[in-house]
Amino acid sequence: MSDTDDETDDRKDEISSEAVAHVRYLYDSGFPFFTKDRIRGVYEELQRNGQPGNKVRIEGLDGKFDQFKIRNGMYCDEEEGLEYIFEKPIIHYDSIQGLLDPDMVGYWSPYTNIRIYHQLLTRDKLTKRITNPVYVTSLEEVRVSLGTTLQMWKASESWKQLKYKFGCLQNLNINKMVAFALGPIQAFAEEKHSNRSSFQHALIISLHELLRDVSNGSDIKCYAQDPAYTKHDTAILETFGVTVLPDPEGFLEVDDSTIVVSISPNVAVKQVVSDIARPAIIIWNRIEEIDQRCTDPDSPRLRTWILAHYDSFDFPGDWDYFGDLVVYIQRPNSTEGDRVSSLA
Ligand SMILES: C[S@@+](CC[C@H](N)C(=O)[O-])C[C@H]1O[C@@H](n2cnc3c(N)ncnc32)[C@H](O)[C@@H]1O
Repeated sequence: MSDTDDETDDRKDEISSEAVAHVRYLYDSGFPFFTKDRIRGVYEELQRNGQPGNKVRIEGLDGKFDQFKIRNGMYCDEEEGLEYIFEKPIIHYDSIQGLLDPDMVGYWSPYTNIRIYHQLLTRDKLTKRITNPVYVTSLEEVRVSLGTTLQMWKASESWKQLKYKFGCLQNLNINKMVAFALGPIQAFAEEKHSNRSSFQHALIISLHELLRDVSNGSDIKCYAQDPAYTKHDTAILETFGVTVLPDPEGFLEVDDSTIVVSISPNVAVKQVVSDIARPAIIIWNRIEEIDQRCTDPDSPRLRTWILAHYDSFDFPGDWDYFGDLVVYIQRPNSTEGDRVSSLA
């Protein structure tokens, strides 16, 4: 749920076919919708003013400001004996499709592609009992789940194939790995879907080890960003050499010498990353020829970018754990040609 104050409501009224057309024009002309400076600015503003009752000001793509009220800990009425409680504020990065979605016109300005949300809990008005509690996997369950899946993954044919493919790559200039949206780790279960997050973390841990082995001991970092991590995830991942970063520090770490891993995120990671850097290797959901309606959609601009700069091979992992992933490797001779950085 996004929460804005009256000033922002005025701004919603500015929504016009001209604004929609202008945003589409900016996107088509290559104007970067996400820059590290802008993302850093939002982060600093949240750190300055992100306490309950304050307002956070975020500059839109047109240079005008939206204000978001910070409400964590507060509650509001819902229907049928329930009330909402606002959880901590989180940053939402919207795609071009989200901004121009006709079903969403009127909810926010098409220039407002970075917004502040609050996750919501619901509770019974009378008993105050939370009706949608978030289950927190215990420290021991996280440790066992990750240990078990790491063993299974390292023994798998998929990992052997991936290791072989990485071994064939020449002249890689990689100094870190940044993973997005791998999700909180669940207790190990028979049902494959519950082990997705564990297997996805096993992937980054094993790749990190491989990179360290082939880099003659240079200090290659491995970072992971997902606002849903628990303190147990953070603690256990640290023991495997993975440092959890708060949003948006993961984005601020991404540069042209990074391996980016992103699997089915709830925000537009593809559109953010392709605007802020040209990572050496990217492992994420296949870029399709037609845009799908989802939280991390492809776009014509993204397809042009990936075709211009990357070779690829299919990720050899089990779809139940990883979905349809592709490994994109930056072509050595790719040029700066299509980086447009000024407002046309
Ligand atoms: C659909 S789940 C995917 C989880 C897991 N990768 C999988 O394939 O099952 C989307 C994930 O995106 C995460 N997410 C949302 N906003 C994010 C952000 N700004 N940075 C990184 N992850 C984010 C959510 O917390 C959630 O864990």
